[in-house]
Amino acid sequence: MSEIAIELNNVWKIFGTRAEEALKAVQSSSLSKAEMLSEFNCVLGVANANMQIEAGEIFCVMGLSGSGKSTLVRHINRLLEPTAGSIHVNGVDVMAMNPQELRNYRNANIAMVFQNFGLMPHRSVLDNIAMPLEIRGISKNQRLEAAERCIELVELGGWGNKFAHELSGGMQQRVGLARALASDPEILLMDEPFSALDPLIRRQLQNQFMQLAAQMKKTTVFITHDLDEAVRIGAHIAIMRDGAVVQIGTPEEIVMHPADDYVADFVAGISRLKVVRAHAVMQPIEAITAWFSIGGCGRICQRYASWAVDHSGDQQRYTLGDYPRWSACWCRDPK
Ligand SMILES: Nc1ncnc2c1ncn2[C@@H]1O[C@H](COP(=O)(O)OP(=O)(O)OP(=O)(O)O)[C@@H](O)[C@H]1O
Ligand SMILES: [Mg+2]
Repeated sequence: MSEIAIELNNVWKIFGTRAEEALKAVQSSSLSKAEMLSEFNCVLGVANANMQIEAGEIFCVMGLSGSGKSTLVRHINRLLEPTAGSIHVNGVDVMAMNPQELRNYRNANIAMVFQNFGLMPHRSVLDNIAMPLEIRGISKNQRLEAAERCIELVELGGWGNKFAHELSGGMQQRVGLARALASDPEILLMDEPFSALDPLIRRQLQNQFMQLAAQMKKTTVFITHDLDEAVRIGAHIAIMRDGAVVQIGTPEEIVMHPADDYVADFVAGISRLKVVRAHAVMQPIEAITAWFSIGGCGRICQRYASWAVDHSGDQQRYTLGDYPRWSACWCRDPK
């Protein structure tokens, strides 16, 4: 079974001075978000959210504006404290950390990428990327070395000495990603990182990010209001409405079996064929080997399978569309 990196249990977040009172009321009756506002002058941010995020996966949080995505995710690095509920990261209770432990946890384990880039406009690109290391007290040489490494990862080599404000939006967002990666965090929180960008640049960045994510295997919580983006990049997707998590599932579970009309409305714009091709047809490599073995060509297929593993790092999922590549490999070296 996969290791759970992040676990949220019964998390409630209510904004307002009468939050405790409003919590009691909402827990004992079905008070809507609008009723909570009118009766208690409190805003329901997150309503009894539960989720488990596996180590190394990209987990998308999706929903309309105001549904509680940012509020929920900000609990993971304790930028917000829950009105009720618990948050565990790698088994550690985030709410039990003292100020020093919390500082260490934020510096060493977790980084955030924001929708509006959050760069210092009059600092150079390299200085921006090196900032988290500066905060950690790392020497100038070491942090610039790390920044140079990360700038190459996001393919911005040569731009390091420009000011951040001299770069386009897409480039600035890549700087934001490089800055998040500079501290080599275990967990990346990405709050609608690509939504300010035009569709073409956005798709390029999604592709680049997916390649990076496959190499680095960081646990990533990725907020988006675009189901198409969530389906492309997420291993699991949580859909939020009015603070509540209404469905969690793999892309194909969400698209093929939407839990209610709200999810079905999002799903209506997604090509089922795309999801089936991209996800449902993906099989663990053992399954594909077994499939060929039944056809009586086990030894050959074992070779294809091991070649596929060798040529893909640890990515253990293949589409049947990979078959031509395996065949090509066998034809070149048919021992
Ligand atoms: N600091 C705050 N004080 C009071 N209410 C807040 C605060 N932050 C968020 N809220 C409320 O919590 C609810 C959820 O907001 P949140 O920012 O999490 O939504 P979101 O899904 O991230 O939306 P968007 O897609 O627009 O970023 C909203 O009703 C918002 O008004
Ligand atoms: Mg938000």
